[in-house]
Amino acid sequence: MSTFSVSAPAQLKLAKRMSRLGTETAFEVLVRARALEKQGKHIVHLEIGEPDFETPKNIVDAAVDALHLGYTHYGPSAGLPDLREAIAEDVSRSRGVKFTPEEVVVVPGGKPIIFYTMLALVDEGDEVIYPNPGFPIYESMINYVGGRAIPIQLREECDFGLDVDELASLINDRTRLIIINSPQNPTGGVLPKQAIHDIADAIGDRNVMILSDEIYCRLMFEGEPFSISTVEGMKDRTIILDGFSKTYAMTGWRMGYGMMRADLAAHMARLMTNSNSCTASFTQMAGVEAVRGDQSATERMRLEFQRRRDVFVNGLNQIKGFSCRLPKGAFYTFPNITQTGWSSKKLADALLDEAGVAALSGTAFGFFGEGYLRFSVANSIENLQIALERIESWTKKNL
Ligand SMILES: Cc1ncc(COP(=O)(O)O)c(C=O)c1O
Repeated sequence: MSTFSVSAPAQLKLAKRMSRLGTETAFEVLVRARALEKQGKHIVHLEIGEPDFETPKNIVDAAVDALHLGYTHYGPSAGLPDLREAIAEDVSRSRGVKFTPEEVVVVPGGKPIIFYTMLALVDEGDEVIYPNPGFPIYESMINYVGGRAIPIQLREECDFGLDVDELASLINDRTRLIIINSPQNPTGGVLPKQAIHDIADAIGDRNVMILSDEIYCRLMFEGEPFSISTVEGMKDRTIILDGFSKTYAMTGWRMGYGMMRADLAAHMARLMTNSNSCTASFTQMAGVEAVRGDQSATERMRLEFQRRRDVFVNGLNQIKGFSCRLPKGAFYTFPNITQTGWSSKKLADALLDEAGVAALSGTAFGFFGEGYLRFSVANSIENLQIALERIESWTKKNL
């Protein structure tokens, strides 16, 4: 009789840094919502942050043409010269400060600019100040590279801007990087021009870099976007993050870019060489069409998001326990739910499980998100109305 010894699988030994890596809860809630749909439940999806519109046809056509023309090979790590040039022209025009193609790095989505900025600039123990509530990837990436994540609270009473005196009190000799994001995810807040000048003053002539996440800059409902890179003396200290995902409804294409001084751009390109080699070549040719072609679809989407925001915020403010400011940009609403007496996570879970409305807990965006929920308005008015009715009837039963 032969005996087989079955050895237990070796224990997976992860690198320590993996325990410091966070996540983006939107993707997890989406999975839970899909599982409920599989059980036959109807869910209104207000959790994920992506335009529900199709990518404009002229951009899709440009990608198809590029495929037929043979843009199917590796390209330069920092991006195809045509696209770097088109972006430099576009950003120079929109921000009102001159950028050259050498100051552009094209990457697969906006996210890699966050990761590469941390990898390139933040040593272990360096402090990085970041908005909280804010896009969760900032905190995750700061921790991952061994930096110290220092939150600056965005307060509802400041229209979800930041208190510049508080920011100034957080800056010290260990501060390496400050992240700002306007229009902001998740609050829809926009930093006024004066606040941006004050932030620059608070930094003074310290050797601190700024990551200015401007991915929603084309989605503003009042006023003009204003970039800190245009403040005197700030351009060389700023990395602008922008991209195609939100402006042109291209989330799945994975294409974004950073604008930064040319010497830093060369180092970011080395990070690209080591990780992705390059962004897909045919998508970059579609990017040239996106930037240089007809912009009317972007404007149509902006107006439609504004219409939906108005309907949804108005509806939320009629519901017991909810109070919501009118966001000035992006496609999110961030109601205060403290009057419900429920914690954010518990309420988000209950709305998904019992009311069929998928939203995110404010705490998915950090500690200071407690007391809030985030609903994306990237869904039809009809679905937004259904969501409002369901939330209202849930509150009538449960509050
Ligand atoms: C503030 C902010 N920055 C960056 C990104 C990343 O965008 P992308 O999908 O292009 O990587 C997002 C996406 O939700 C975002 O909300």
